[in-house]
Amino acid sequence: MTIIHDPGDDTADVRPATPEEMADVRRMHTSNRVAWDQAAERYEGWFEESVAQIRAGGSSLFPLEEALIGDIRGRCRRAIHLQCAGGRDSLSLWNLGAAEVVGIDFSPRMLDLARRLTEATGAPASWVESDVLDVPHTLDGTADLLYTGRGSLMWLQDLDVWAAVLRRLLAPSGRLVIFEGHPAEWLFDADEDGRWMLTGYDYFAGPEASRGWARAYIDRLSIPDGEQHWKFARAWTMGEIVTALVRSGLRLEEVAEYPVDWWAGHRDVRPEERGRLPLSFSVTATRG
Ligand SMILES: C[S@@+](CC[C@H](N)C(=O)[O-])C[C@H]1O[C@@H](n2cnc3c(N)ncnc32)[C@H](O)[C@@H]1O
Repeated sequence: MTIIHDPGDDTADVRPATPEEMADVRRMHTSNRVAWDQAAERYEGWFEESVAQIRAGGSSLFPLEEALIGDIRGRCRRAIHLQCAGGRDSLSLWNLGAAEVVGIDFSPRMLDLARRLTEATGAPASWVESDVLDVPHTLDGTADLLYTGRGSLMWLQDLDVWAAVLRRLLAPSGRLVIFEGHPAEWLFDADEDGRWMLTGYDYFAGPEASRGWARAYIDRLSIPDGEQHWKFARAWTMGEIVTALVRSGLRLEEVAEYPVDWWAGHRDVRPEERGRLPLSFSVTATRG
């Protein structure tokens, strides 16, 4: 099961992207923007619990992510969060010690939610509506902490441009922390007995187009699945991800893989079967 759709769910429309679609990164991103604006409906339903968590000084990040970020109190003037959605993870960085947070996302409806969360919590945060590939140059060199992941990379159709953006946003002594779904996750799902089985996903196929969302994540929206906007996602291979980061000039500190089910998409896997497959990974890096 992927964050986008459940292979066992025959109501989802899924097809390979056509060669024309694949050749046009901007067109795929424009389509994704509309689809994510529609999916923001689900995040709106999580607003009150986000307010309560942030007001209470809490964090929506995994302990694993907090360990990767480390102690930033008094050391992080600005944290930039790419693909910030409704801002809950971004404001968690504030609670963890960032003096100021900047969240970037291309969905206006997600950013409305993030603004409401700021108003409700009084957090020192600002929100920038932009494609990740076009983050304004005014933010260059200002991220003491640059954080992204949790279902972000799969939506991007040009990793080299993305990696170059990461490098230019980092302050000279800034750190990059990525915690993301592992591409191998797309290859496996639970069978009826809760054991791992192969899905039909092709690791090397590139983007696929889909309508409808995994029931464990966005689920059904008020717009029926078949009337939602087409969206384009792909499992970038670990080789492609690491190579893009290295080629950008970033200095990688660590690349690590985990069995952590980061979006609870594999709850139907038997406990004794868990822990055998990589479901998430992290990268930490400096500007180099
Ligand atoms: C799964 S969410 C990221 C995880 C997020 N921290 C959360 O709370 O769930 C994906 C986000 O990426 C945004 N997004 C996707 N492609 C993007 C792009 N090219 N530029 C900017 N934002 C993008 C979507 O609007 C959405 O808010």
